[in-house]
Amino acid sequence: MKHFKDKVVVITGAGSGIGKALAEEFAALGAQLALNDIDAQNLEITRKNLESKTTIISESFDVSDNNAIIQFAEKTNKHFKKVDVLINNAGVAAGKLSVEEIDIELFKWVVDINFWGVVYGSKAFLPYLKNQPEAAIVNISSIFGLMGIGYQAPYCSTKFAVRGFSESLAVELHDTPVEVMCVHPAGINTNIANNSRGGNPEDSKEFNNFLKDDPNVIARKIIKGIQRKKVRLPVGRFSSVIDWMNRLKPYHIANMLQQKVLKK
Ligand SMILES: NC(=O)c1ccc[n+]([C@@H]2O[C@H](COP(=O)([O-])OP(=O)(O)OC[C@H]3O[C@@H](n4cnc5c(N)ncnc54)[C@H](O)[C@@H]3O)[C@@H](O)[C@H]2O)c1
Repeated sequence: MKHFKDKVVVITGAGSGIGKALAEEFAALGAQLALNDIDAQNLEITRKNLESKTTIISESFDVSDNNAIIQFAEKTNKHFKKVDVLINNAGVAAGKLSVEEIDIELFKWVVDINFWGVVYGSKAFLPYLKNQPEAAIVNISSIFGLMGIGYQAPYCSTKFAVRGFSESLAVELHDTPVEVMCVHPAGINTNIANNSRGGNPEDSKEFNNFLKDDPNVIARKIIKGIQRKKVRLPVGRFSSVIDWMNRLKPYHIANMLQQKVLKK
């Protein structure tokens, strides 16, 4: 897909961070938008800021609610008569907690949003995407979908799962018009740490020190990735380096990062 003028782009988690930046960048390219976020207030701010630039529908719901996302897919297709791009972006993290410490309900909260939200979204929109001459599903994983670190087992598990799901789906859809890209960001300046649940809030504040890259720069790289039909896209200044180091010395790099940088 080379151009986005009048394309219909669906973005979950568009009230903040990477999702908001994607909405801004796609609107600047003339795309029409169907936006979601569980945070109705922030979603409304994104919509209001962009409504003079393009046509937008928006709906606040939880992406871990399968029926809600099915209804949103129907509504989007009814409104625009097509869907060209789906970006499963909404995601959350738990605080810095060991597997022994973490409450299983908190673990499931992360799985429901980060993994099931992506599966539900892909299944709900796929029939509409397949009707287009060219289309794309973009799933936002993480550098922690390529490398596991300590005290983030729910997050790492779900982001690895998103990669597995995306790569499997990409192979399945090879002979269709739908491209699938899995994005592995690292260190982007968003609210992901502030929005985390459980653990010590001081740890979240400390994690913000690693979130430096501008989400709009990242959004533009993701858009380029769609244009270039990438299947796997590391983004953020640390992402490619960590990915390659981890390939050369799996586990040791994660362990070194944990001991020297992330700590507990
Ligand atoms: N910031 C980073 O460095 C980084 C690194 C790797 C991966 N990611 C991934 O990027 C994606 C976007 O996160 P971000 O960094 O922009 O964080 P963010 O917290 O700024 O934005 C996430 C948005 O998702 C929304 N959301 C959360 N739960 C939801 C739900 N159940 N249903 C609908 N919306 C929901 C939030 O309200 C928020 O607006 C996530 O999948 C995250 O895991 C971010």
